[in-house]
Amino acid sequence: MNVFSLLFLRHNAWIASAPEFLCYDPPVNAGLREKGYLLVKGLIEPCMARVFYKTLLLKHWRGESFRDNHIPTAAAVSDDAAVDALLLELLPRIEEISSFRLVPAYSYARVYFHGDAMVRHRDRPGCEVSASIHLGRHGGDSCLWFAPNDRVDMAAGDAAVYMGCEAEHWREPFTGNTMGQMFLHYVVSGGRFAQNYFDGRPDRFPPSVSKASC
Ligand SMILES: [Fe+2]
Repeated sequence: MNVFSLLFLRHNAWIASAPEFLCYDPPVNAGLREKGYLLVKGLIEPCMARVFYKTLLLKHWRGESFRDNHIPTAAAVSDDAAVDALLLELLPRIEEISSFRLVPAYSYARVYFHGDAMVRHRDRPGCEVSASIHLGRHGGDSCLWFAPNDRVDMAAGDAAVYMGCEAEHWREPFTGNTMGQMFLHYVVSGGRFAQNYFDGRPDRFPPSVSKASC
């Protein structure tokens, strides 16, 4: 039995066990409920984080990144197989941290440059439970801010796990040269945003992973 078959079986188990009512039962991790975010030290190995960081820098150098509407001066990467693989691989860990049963939505990554900032906002429905993983940087600091005024500093491999649709968050202008950050987004199985599973594009994954409905 390969990994995708195992994931498919596991996913069907999610569906079978998913409550028909809304989402935050069984209860969310108490700290996550209280603050809207949790700092998780060492979510991935620092070496792995640095490899992803250097990969992003190479993608930018080779013209394989793009500019999005949110931070047009940064370099964004989406639909990357390696980052999507981490989205799948870390799902059990994010479930453990959040106390939710989750379904993957999508992954994303960015290289921030000097002066790049992110306005205070909440995320779209596909980002119900998210992990923002710090990959590495040259200069500056990694801090991500959460309402009301909480500063979260991360070393390479650390992450903020947060309720993306509820917790307001932002970044002050980056003072270093470059910084890599990766984002893994999930929705609660059987929850109010469950229709956003695989971000509406399950065809990006084999049917053995994606063939299920929430
Ligand atoms: Fe966001």
